[in-house]
Amino acid sequence: MFEVRIVDTKRYYITTAIDYVNASPHIGHAYEKIIADVLARVHRLRGFEVHFLTGTDEHGQKNATTAAAAGKAVKAFVDENAAKFRDLVGLLNLSIDDFIRTTEPRHARGVETIWRRVRAAGDFYKKNYQALYCVGHEAFVTKSDLVNGKCPAHDAEPIVIEEENYFFRLSKYRSQLRRLFEERRDFVVPASRYGEMLNLIDTLEDISVSRPVEKLSWGIPVPDDPTHVIYVWFDALTNYISAVGFGQDEAKFERWWPASHHLIGKDINRFHSLLWPAMLISAGLTPPRQVLVHGFITVEGQKISKTLGNVIDPGAVARELAAASGAAFEVCIDALRYFLLREIPFGEDGDFSRSGLVHRFNADLANDYGNLLNRTVPQLERHFDRQVPARGSEAGKDAALRQTAVEVASSIERFIDRLDFKGALEEIWRLLGTANKYIDEEAPWQAVRTDRARAGTVLYNTLEAVRIATILLSPWLPTATARVWEQLGIAASLETQRLDDARRWGGLPAGTRVSPGAPIFPRIETKVGVASGRERTAAAPDATSTGGSQTVSTISIDEFRKLDIRVGEVLSATRVPGTEKLIEVKVDIGGEVRTLATGLVPQYQPEELIGKRIIVLANLEPRRVRGVTSQGMLLAAEWEGEVALLTVEKYAPKGAKIT
Ligand code: ME8
Ligand code: MG
Repeated sequence: MFEVRIVDTKRYYITTAIDYVNASPHIGHAYEKIIADVLARVHRLRGFEVHFLTGTDEHGQKNATTAAAAGKAVKAFVDENAAKFRDLVGLLNLSIDDFIRTTEPRHARGVETIWRRVRAAGDFYKKNYQALYCVGHEAFVTKSDLVNGKCPAHDAEPIVIEEENYFFRLSKYRSQLRRLFEERRDFVVPASRYGEMLNLIDTLEDISVSRPVEKLSWGIPVPDDPTHVIYVWFDALTNYISAVGFGQDEAKFERWWPASHHLIGKDINRFHSLLWPAMLISAGLTPPRQVLVHGFITVEGQKISKTLGNVIDPGAVARELAAASGAAFEVCIDALRYFLLREIPFGEDGDFSRSGLVHRFNADLANDYGNLLNRTVPQLERHFDRQVPARGSEAGKDAALRQTAVEVASSIERFIDRLDFKGALEEIWRLLGTANKYIDEEAPWQAVRTDRARAGTVLYNTLEAVRIATILLSPWLPTATARVWEQLGIAASLETQRLDDARRWGGLPAGTRVSPGAPIFPRIETKVGVASGRERTAAAPDATSTGGSQTVSTISIDEFRKLDIRVGEVLSATRVPGTEKLIEVKVDIGGEVRTLATGLVPQYQPEELIGKRIIVLANLEPRRVRGVTSQGMLLAAEWEGEVALLTVEKYAPKGAKIT
C-alpha cells in the first residue's frame, strides 16, 4: 500500500514532458515549456521554493529509426538534436533549474534502481508476445486503433513485433489506482482528463516493458539481463525522479518528491496518470502530486505535420515579429509567450496564427501596456525633473484605481491555482484598462498648468498601477517587464519582487528617477489591401482626395477654421450587419462619444481599430448610412486603393483640436 500524502509545503516541483529528439522543436513543444515556465515563475513570485525540470527523451525505436534513416550513428544523431532542444531553453527564456537527457549516466542509475525495486516486488514476468507497435507513439496498438491499416495520428503503418518481452503487472494496480483517483479528485486536471483516465482503470492489462537487444539495442539494458533493453516509456517516465537524486542523493529526492506537478500534452496522459503511478507504487514510492494536461496547438487551423510543411519554429516567429515591429527579439519571444497563454484556455486545443499574434502585440502590449509608460514618463521628464512626484491626498478616481490594483494583485493566485492563465491575464488587463481610463479622465497634462500637485498625484498613481502590473506580468513577459522596470528606475531588482509587493499600494518611492527609453513594444503597421466598392465612399474620404493630379482650388484660413477636426479614441468597432465593408465605430472625441459609419474593410478589421487614436471631422452634417447615423467622418489617406488612417505623431489627448 502507498501513502496518499498531500505535501503542503511551499515547495513546487514542476516538470515538462521530455521531448523525443527525432526532429527539431516546434511551436507545440514551445507551448508546453512556456506554460511550465510561467508556473515556475508565478510560484517563485508567490514565495515558493521551485524546482523546474525539462529535458530530452533520447532512447527508443523512434530516435533509432530516424537516425538510421538519416544515415547517422544514433548517439551522434541524438546529441545533435538534443542540442536544439537545449537551445530552446535559452530562446524561450525558460527559468529551468535542471535539464535531463535520458542518455546521461545519472538517469541510467535511476532507471536501474526503479527496475530492481519493481522486480523485487515481483511485478515482472517474461512472456512471448506478438503485437502491433506504432513507432510514432512508441506504444502497442490494436487493429481497432488503425484506419486503413495505419495509425491515424502518425499516418504510418505499425510494425509487427514477435518476441519475448518482460511484462509489468499493471493490472495488479487497478484497485490502488482507483483509490488514488478517489482520494485526489485533482490528481489529473482538467476534470475531463481525470474522468477519461478514471474510466480506463478497470481495463488496464499488463504491459510489455522491454525489447530483446537483437531487435532494438538503443536503450538502457535490463539490470542483470543484457539480452534486453528497457522499454522507452519505462525509461523516460523515470526522468522525473532520476533528475532529483532518486537512488543517488536521498536528501535531494526527499526535498522534491512527491511535490511534483507533471505538465504534459493530452496524447501522453495514459502513461503519466496510470502507468507512472503504478510503477511508483510498485517500487514503494509515492505517486506525483498532480498531472496537468494541456491541449494541442494547430497552425492556422491545421494539425502540425512535416508533410503539411507547417512546422513552426518559434525562433523564426519571433524574428519575423522583431523585423515587423522593430522591437527587441527577446521582447518578441515575450509576445509569443503572452499570445499563447492569453489565447488558449488551459486544457483546450488552440490555434497559432500570425495575424492573431500581431493583433495581440498591437492591441494589448503596445497600446495598453507599453503606452501607459509613454503617457507618463515623458511628462515626468517635462514637468517633474524626471522624478516620480509625491502622492497627494486622494481625489477623483484615485481610490477606485487603487482598489482595482489591490484586487487584481490579490486575485492572481486564485486564477493560477485553477490554471486559468487567460483569466489571470484578463484580470491584469482590467488593471491596465482602468489605469488608461484614469489618466484619460484625470488628464494630468491639463492639470499641470493649474494644479501641479494634482498632476503629480495622477502621474504617481498611474505609475504605481504600472509598477504593480509589471510585477504581475513578469512571469509571462520576463524581458519586457525588466525593461519597463528599468524605465521606472526602481532600485530593487524586479527579480526580488514578490506578490506581496504587488499587493501593497504606494510601493513606488516618490523621488525615484525614471529613465525614459525607447518604446518597448513599437506598434506594427499592418499592411492593408485594396479598397473598392461603393460603401466606403459613404463616410470615408471620396475620390476627390485620391492622387495628386487634379487641381485643388485654395480656401481661406477662415474656411479651414470652420472644420472641427479632433483627436478621438476608438472605443468600439463592429461590422454593420448585412454589409460587406462597413464598420460602425464609436469614438470618444473628448467627453463626447460619436458614432461613425465607415467603409474600411478589408483594409482594417474592426478589432484592430479599438484603442486607436484617430482624427475625426466632428462637424460634418450627420447622415444615414445603411441604417447607421454617422455623426462625422474619420480621416484617412487613400491612394491606389490603399487606405491608411490618420493618427497623431505623439501622444495627444482625446478632443485635442487639429489646427
Ligand atoms: O511524447 N501542441 O515526446 P514528444 C501541443 N518523449 N503540445 C504538443 C504538440 C502540439 N502540437 N505536439 C507535441 C513524447 N506536443 C515523449 C514524452 S515524457 C516522460 C516523454 C507535446 O516529443 C506532447 O503532448 O512527442 C508532449 O507533452 C510533448 O510535446 C513532447 O512530445
Ligand atoms: Mg509525440
